[in-house]
Amino acid sequence: MLAIAEKNPLSTENTVNKPAPFFSNTSLGINLYQGDAIELLQEAKSEKYDLIFADPPYFLSNGGITCQNGERVCVNKGKWDKAPSLAEIHEFNTLWLRECHRLLKPNGTIWVSGTSHNIYSVGFAMQTIGYKILNDIAWFKINPPPNLACRYFTHATETILWARKSEKAKHLYNYSEMKSDNGDKQMQSLWSIPPPKTYEKRFGKHPTQKPEKLLDRIIRSASNHGDTVLDPFCGSGTTGVLATRLGRKFVGFDLSGEYLNLAKLRIESEMEELNNQLFNHVE
Ligand SMILES: C[S@@+](CC[C@H](N)C(=O)[O-])C[C@H]1O[C@@H](n2cnc3c(N)ncnc32)[C@H](O)[C@@H]1O
Repeated sequence: MLAIAEKNPLSTENTVNKPAPFFSNTSLGINLYQGDAIELLQEAKSEKYDLIFADPPYFLSNGGITCQNGERVCVNKGKWDKAPSLAEIHEFNTLWLRECHRLLKPNGTIWVSGTSHNIYSVGFAMQTIGYKILNDIAWFKINPPPNLACRYFTHATETILWARKSEKAKHLYNYSEMKSDNGDKQMQSLWSIPPPKTYEKRFGKHPTQKPEKLLDRIIRSASNHGDTVLDPFCGSGTTGVLATRLGRKFVGFDLSGEYLNLAKLRIESEMEELNNQLFNHVE
């Protein structure tokens, strides 16, 4: 059961059970909650978020083998990533995407990452719910692990679907900023971004940690300073780190206390960095 907490940003006027945050910083508007994403989303206020980034379970932990640092390792990420039936995967995706649709502000957008294991279900669920898909970004991982079976092409990309709330909604796209990032040429939907750097994992490892550069581009392209960002499967907190760095408020959920602790350490370190910058500026 969820514990009771005062002044909780997830509360609705009629809600009795208010979850207590795992970690909170009220002045920066950062809140992490431990629990099931669907339950937590159901408790949250409608139309509160400008941007949602979701990196849900891809459901690819089926006992396969991959290559990591030159060694054969099992592909399993954890219990949370074990594959149920296709129908169950689709039901799960439909449930959380429907809640996110309710939580997005009218002009807000959602970004969802995935691979062939889940992204077609995510895309179909989005269209069924009424989202308008804006782009399917191909994230090229530049130096992906080799394919050990030698019977497929090396898996070198992940897909990130970007969608707005409805066909008619007006969404934010910081076009000029993206163009300027790309040497004054229009930013394309193929993003070449290497996996997370070693220093991004200095507080510990998450098996599917996203690179900071990926979240930097997503957040800067589709939100403004002071906006509120939600990540319902926040893991090691990459979205929270970038939201903090870029002056956005942040709400993150995860089932795992271990991963949330990693997220907390990373966000605290980012807050310290911001304080140092402020201090040096004042001096
Ligand atoms: C793909 S990972 C996210 C990684 C994250 N983007 C990062 O950079 O670290 C998915 C996360 O979802 C969490 N998770 C899985 N099922 C969940 C659920 N039903 N509710 C909340 N979190 C869940 C897992 O613990 C895992 O950390």
